[in-house]
Amino acid sequence: MRVSISEIQEMKRKREKIPMLTAYDYITAKVVDEAGVPLILVGDSLGMVMLGYDSTIPVTMEEMLHHTKAVVRGARKALIIGDMPFMTYHVSLSEALHNVGRFIQEGGVQAVKLEGGEAVAGVVKHIVDCGIPVMGHIGLTPQSIYQLGGFKVQGETLEVAERLLKDACILEEAGAFAVVLECIPAPLAKLITQKANIPTIGIGAGPDCDGQVQVISDILGLYTDFVPKHAKQYAKLAEEIKAAVSDYVTEVKSASFPTAKQSYTMDESLLSDVTASGAKQSQCK
Ligand code: KIV
Repeated sequence: MRVSISEIQEMKRKREKIPMLTAYDYITAKVVDEAGVPLILVGDSLGMVMLGYDSTIPVTMEEMLHHTKAVVRGARKALIIGDMPFMTYHVSLSEALHNVGRFIQEGGVQAVKLEGGEAVAGVVKHIVDCGIPVMGHIGLTPQSIYQLGGFKVQGETLEVAERLLKDACILEEAGAFAVVLECIPAPLAKLITQKANIPTIGIGAGPDCDGQVQVISDILGLYTDFVPKHAKQYAKLAEEIKAAVSDYVTEVKSASFPTAKQSYTMDESLLSDVTASGAKQSQCK
């Protein structure tokens, strides 16, 4: 059985911290799931870390679904959340619901996440009323970088801090089961966490959120184009992979790989028969 929404909400009530990670493919999802992460987000950050885009804005529904299906095949226990890409929930309620439906039916996720506060509360309510769990996302919302002026900390003025506090409450009222707080000052995240009855999941929002989410390639030291201040590298996989690949290149070039250990043998008499018939054949053209 997969982790349920009520189990996640129960964790807040019991003051148990909630770990969440992104995953974008079968093998990573399997490892993350086996390591006991209860919430997996197929984030639209895949546009940057998997597809090499400059932002999450070019990511399409088709790209999200392609990766989501692989994650769902890999993770058996975690609750999987699909991240609604740019402009897939803004045009109309029916288009939003259509795209959410694709995530659930084709992708196989159990919940969706979308960015924004009061402005998307109507969409959140509509989706939740149709029986689909929604996670909110406020603070630094990467799909709005042009309006925000880049990847910047949010909530450093009274006006924005008050708006974020209000947005969290509005999302809760709209029926969101949890809310991501991205890149906001730790004391503000603490205040929102105290006010909200739903779990807050922080990323660059300090230690007092109910849970934490990170981009998997950041914590594994795999994505080195840009390392955000809020990310801690628990491994340096880019370096390890480079060292392993360069060893492979050296060994292939020097013919020290493969050895007998990685090769298949053949019956001696079969080999002499095939050698004899090979001798009768002319050189391949
Ligand atoms: O796309 C993503 O990875 C996210 C997380 C940073 C919350 O939205």
